[in-house]
Amino acid sequence: MTTSSAPGKIILFGEHAVVYGRPALAVPVTQVHADVEVSDSSRAGIWINAPDVDLHAELNTLPCDHPVAAVIYNLFFSLGISPHPSPLSRRERGWGEGLEIKISSTIPVASGLGSGAAVTVALLRALSSFLFHPLSDEQVNSLAYEIEKLHHGTPSGIDNTVITYARPVYFIKHPPSPSRSPTGVLREGAGGEVETVKVGAPFTIVIGDTGISAPTKQSVSDVRKLWLKNTNRFERVFDEVGQIALMARRVIESGQPALLGDLMDQNHALLQEITVSSPELDRLVRAARKAGALGAKMSGGGRGGNMIALVNKESAPAVAEALRSAGAIRTIITTVQAI
Ligand code: PMV
Repeated sequence: MTTSSAPGKIILFGEHAVVYGRPALAVPVTQVHADVEVSDSSRAGIWINAPDVDLHAELNTLPCDHPVAAVIYNLFFSLGISPHPSPLSRRERGWGEGLEIKISSTIPVASGLGSGAAVTVALLRALSSFLFHPLSDEQVNSLAYEIEKLHHGTPSGIDNTVITYARPVYFIKHPPSPSRSPTGVLREGAGGEVETVKVGAPFTIVIGDTGISAPTKQSVSDVRKLWLKNTNRFERVFDEVGQIALMARRVIESGQPALLGDLMDQNHALLQEITVSSPELDRLVRAARKAGALGAKMSGGGRGGNMIALVNKESAPAVAEALRSAGAIRTIITTVQAI
């Protein structure tokens, strides 16, 4: 049996602008995770068991573009292994009659916490290890990006990247313009250039969920339409967002996270300008600031989903409470550790 676990993620700065080549910063959220277990089965076939989404099916009965089936087919294909091996090659690989894949997740779906990418990453790792072909982080990231593209149209690649590396990342989508390309790129990540970010001092954020499910694909496509009509104005906004993400990175690395508060407020105003915030997100952002947060902003695709607030460790419970009173259906307090 092999197992793997992948964290959730949250975008701190740069959503939407990242689709247009500006940098974004995201961190893993370890309080929530997707877990996958792959084992031998006495039943023939590849059985998928995901009770959280009421999925109990044999691979063959799922459409090829089903989120889980697509990961399995892509992995088998890239390893050059048949998902339906003959009895002889099954025995050679040490399988029983078939495989059993159990998937569970505590990451709320469709709320900007990267639930889909986390399941993909955990599944790729658990299954590739089971097949005696453990993938490198780069391979996991690149396959996960292919799956993200199937589901999200034109994703920047930030979700699969931060979840694969499970570290704070500074990310620029391909193709970056040379002037925006960061120095010292560590890895050529799937979909973009990714640098892991040093964290000079720990900081705590509270995540508040509006409970409104809003597809990222929709807000990304709406922004694209507006950008086509108002290219100069939107480009200026994206430049400002990019500057904020760059400053945020410096502030995080230099161990002065309190300065992130103002940057969050500024980034939120720019996201409002490009129409991706919503009355519910704005209400939570105001409530967090009023309860003592150092700054707050929406996070991710917007129109619903989550917002984040920077807090002192001591004020975290009060801010979380204020968010719930203002309508958040869930709050998560997470600390980004110094590394
Ligand atoms: O809603 P989320 O957390 O999946 O984030 C979407 C972020 C966007 O920048 C809007 C899109 C993207 O692909 O980066």
